[in-house]
Amino acid sequence: MSRVPATTCRLSSVLAAGLAIGALVASTIGGGDESETELGTDRSPAELIDELDLGQKTALTHGHAFDRNPFDRRQTGYVAPVPELDIPPLKLTDGPHGVRHGPATAFPAGVSQISTWDCDRLYAVGHAMGREAKAAEQDVLLAPAINIVRVPTGGRTFEYFGEDPSLAARGAVATIRGIQDAGTIATAKHFVANNQEGKPRFRTGSDVPVLRSVLQRGSRFVVDSQVSERALRELYLPAFRAAVEAADVGAVMTAYNSVNGDYASENAPLFDVLEDEWGFDGFTVSDWLLGVKSRDGSIEAGLDLEMPYGLFYGLPLRLGLTLGSVDEATIDGMIERTLGQMERFGILQGERVGPPGVANTAEHQRLARETAAHGAVLLKNEPIGDGDPLLPIDPDRIDSLAVIGDAIDTATVGGGGSSAVSPPYTVSPLAGIETRLGADVRIVTADPTNGIDRAVDVAESVECALIFVHDAATEGVDRYDMALHGTQDEVVSAVAEANDRVAVVLDTGGPVTMPWVASVPAVCELWYPGMEDGRATADIVFGDVDPGGKLPITFGERFDDYPVSTPEQYPGVANTVTYAEGVFVGYRHFDAHDIDPLFPFGHGESYTTFDYGELSVSPAETALSRPISVAIPVENTGDRPGREVVQVYVAPMGPSVPRPPKELRAFETVTLAPGERSVVELTLSADDFAYYDDSLADWVVDPGEYTILAGSSSRDIRASHPVTIR
Ligand code: BGC
Repeated sequence: MSRVPATTCRLSSVLAAGLAIGALVASTIGGGDESETELGTDRSPAELIDELDLGQKTALTHGHAFDRNPFDRRQTGYVAPVPELDIPPLKLTDGPHGVRHGPATAFPAGVSQISTWDCDRLYAVGHAMGREAKAAEQDVLLAPAINIVRVPTGGRTFEYFGEDPSLAARGAVATIRGIQDAGTIATAKHFVANNQEGKPRFRTGSDVPVLRSVLQRGSRFVVDSQVSERALRELYLPAFRAAVEAADVGAVMTAYNSVNGDYASENAPLFDVLEDEWGFDGFTVSDWLLGVKSRDGSIEAGLDLEMPYGLFYGLPLRLGLTLGSVDEATIDGMIERTLGQMERFGILQGERVGPPGVANTAEHQRLARETAAHGAVLLKNEPIGDGDPLLPIDPDRIDSLAVIGDAIDTATVGGGGSSAVSPPYTVSPLAGIETRLGADVRIVTADPTNGIDRAVDVAESVECALIFVHDAATEGVDRYDMALHGTQDEVVSAVAEANDRVAVVLDTGGPVTMPWVASVPAVCELWYPGMEDGRATADIVFGDVDPGGKLPITFGERFDDYPVSTPEQYPGVANTVTYAEGVFVGYRHFDAHDIDPLFPFGHGESYTTFDYGELSVSPAETALSRPISVAIPVENTGDRPGREVVQVYVAPMGPSVPRPPKELRAFETVTLAPGERSVVELTLSADDFAYYDDSLADWVVDPGEYTILAGSSSRDIRASHPVTIR
């Protein structure tokens, strides 16, 4: 497609948006009818398209925010039915942490889910969310959210699957399979290079992000992500590629931002990759708040469905079809893709495939609790003096505990924005702790917003203390910086001085600075644990569950340690964000520049200890025509059961182009009883050694020496083995 300067393009879209207000009005009137639940047809999409008139065709390319009742917000988006042909409506709902328009089970945030590094668990969460969507009579779940975390303070870091493309890809595949096996269409979003929400111009309190959203630089709605083909291929596209090739995802949502000069919703080169290269045959759907910028650009590129209105695909499309300026066959193709997925999932026939919908079951809530606990990352747990580490706290050995924090009475269900879920109940940290401890332990609490002195007094009066600190991340705006807001840092420091048996529990959506980290013996990241927050927190703190989670994001000491520290890189200059760091994002950057992180990618301690044996690699010399088998014994050498995530990285020894010193290529989770030993077996293929060569527009594997590294984190490598690629 032709390339138009971004500003011209933006101006014309604004004008077009204005002109299309009429279309908005027209497109919001309409929608369902009383008998829509009865609709269903056995005719194929092609047969139906033959019979659709131009008005009906137009209606199948865009949504209505509401169906017949504007106050009925069961869904996030609604494509009207065609009753004359028995075509049912298509109902779409957010999102990645559960069904938005609840009551629904509020699962832990995406960052917590992925911190389990447990694909079976992610599948189970996806399946549960898919069934809950079905129970809510929704056909499409707008999940998973799989953009790579490039900016640590990004407003949606909590929704995403971390900074590594292999990890995000595995998480995406498991989640999508789960959702779709439940008979609900999954949506991989936001395609692509949507890596920031916008940097606020000033620091505010903990919440009310509205002002920050308005006064921001580098908003997702207007930025152009200037990113090399290599970085796209190696970092930003793999999760989407896996979603298509390995999970056969039904829908892909385009991003708001533009990528290399063209808005994502009309970015022909990206649609070509998606459809022609990867063979995506589902439907593409725009993002919601003016996610479509032009009618023709989007149609030509390949956007099938405009949501939630028909600003461009409503009246303007109808006019184009009537006047003959829009190619009807192209529109037929778009409709066929949407109807094709409706047919695949039984929506078209009025008989959804898969198990029946269920919501808010005890099983789903147990899954939410377990996932939050397994996603907990024990960042630090040092022995106190010559004794044991503080965590887990044995309830039988204490008679007093302080619980300090300004939000201990409130569950951290999730972050702000479209992923928010309304659960039927929540469990606050304090409630979870009180229930677990019963009457035998004296619990004293302090809200430090009423004075740090009170928190210090309380900490001095007990055997040990838990301090809960939090951020307040939301879609629509990034965090101002990595610092905890308010006086939280001061509180931790003051309390740590008053009592040396203090554990800090982080309820944050991403990395935060921890100026007090050396003065506390234990720090555990619980992220946004969802509705079962308190019970999951108690499970970890009191050792009923081993915190086997590992960081999916590098926790740097300061923002400037990340590779987005120039204004050009973030938040961008004149709405252009230059991804100058190329493929050196996250630990790839920290490793290449030898920067010590506060806590590295892949890090997470356990209450037990694991020994790694010798790594065997076979064949160790190969032309890569067949996969390489990697095996490593792991033994639980402690006296408690525990879960370890064995991580395998590939390090090129003499790369012909600058490459990250090592990259995660495989991982496996093992749960071992005390003394138990297991051999973890993984395979590597040619893809795991390849880089993308921009000039050849292809993947290349350099022959030569590589080292296979196996470890407990990206900076805790326990065994290595050389490999020669011929
Ligand atoms: C978000 C999407 C979400 C949509 C519908 C958008 O603003 O970017 O992730 O699915 O709203 O709520």
